Amino acid sequence: MENLKGKTAIVTGAARGIGRAIAEELASAGANVAVCDLKEEWCAETVAALEALGVKAKGYGVNVSVSQEVDACVKTVIADFGGVDVMVNNAGITKDGLLMRMSDEDWDSVLDVNLKGTFLFTRAVSRPMMKNKAPDGSQAGGSIINIASVVGIMGNAGQANYTASKGGVIALTKTTAKELGSRNVRCNAVAPGFIQSKMTDVLPDDVKKAYMDTIPLKRFGTVSDIAKAVRWLAGDDSAYVTGQVISVNGGMIG
Ligand code: NAI
Repeated sequence: MENLKGKTAIVTGAARGIGRAIAEELASAGANVAVCDLKEEWCAETVAALEALGVKAKGYGVNVSVSQEVDACVKTVIADFGGVDVMVNNAGITKDGLLMRMSDEDWDSVLDVNLKGTFLFTRAVSRPMMKNKAPDGSQAGGSIINIASVVGIMGNAGQANYTASKGGVIALTKTTAKELGSRNVRCNAVAPGFIQSKMTDVLPDDVKKAYMDTIPLKRFGTVSDIAKAVRWLAGDDSAYVTGQVISVNGGMIG
């Protein structure tokens, strides 16, 4: 079902992993996609995959934690695509360690990418989204989807910086929904559980087993599990949903 036909989506961290799967899922629903990652050349494979689905796609090199780069990127995307309807704040990093030994740099860099990056892109798209008009003149608005994490809800030893950033993303999501709702700009978060990806491949086997023991559905999630939730939040099927956190975690927490 091409429920996003003609819409433009920006996806950050879309060169690989969950971001790439989200970009492909939105494109398969008909959306044109601005593929953003740290380096434009890293976006080439995703762009080619999206073009093969018959939509317009273009890669952009942007560091989500740098205000000027984010503002310039959104301006260029709007010039290239004619507007922005869907924003997916997916770029994220981890720098794990016990908080007693965590350096200022490891705290700052994770907060800068995961939380400040989400704020910067949300701020940059909010005005253009508020001005979006449907053909009949009504507020078309837009949909902002932030990728949080199960550990942003429950906490996790060894991830003080990461859990704080994702908890912050959840609070930012609720505030954004309150500020922009009157202009039909919705904002929701998806909180993935344990997803098979480059971020989790590096974990030791005993840690993976400990996670598996907590998952009622007895499997790790796939990037596609997350992408499908994002697709639903991006389109009109979720038109009355805003300020929510959708947990996609195999039942890990209620
Ligand atoms: P990944 O490491 O495979 O991909 C992250 C992408 O973000 C990379 O392409 C990277 O280049 C890009 N990126 C990093 N810093 C950036 C910056 N400053 N500016 C622009 N792009 C930047 O990670 P994965 O697993 O695909 O995660 C995607 C999102 O999902 C992240 O926000 C992560 O925190 C979240 N998540 C992942 C889970 C998992 O189990 N993999 C679980 C819960 C949440």
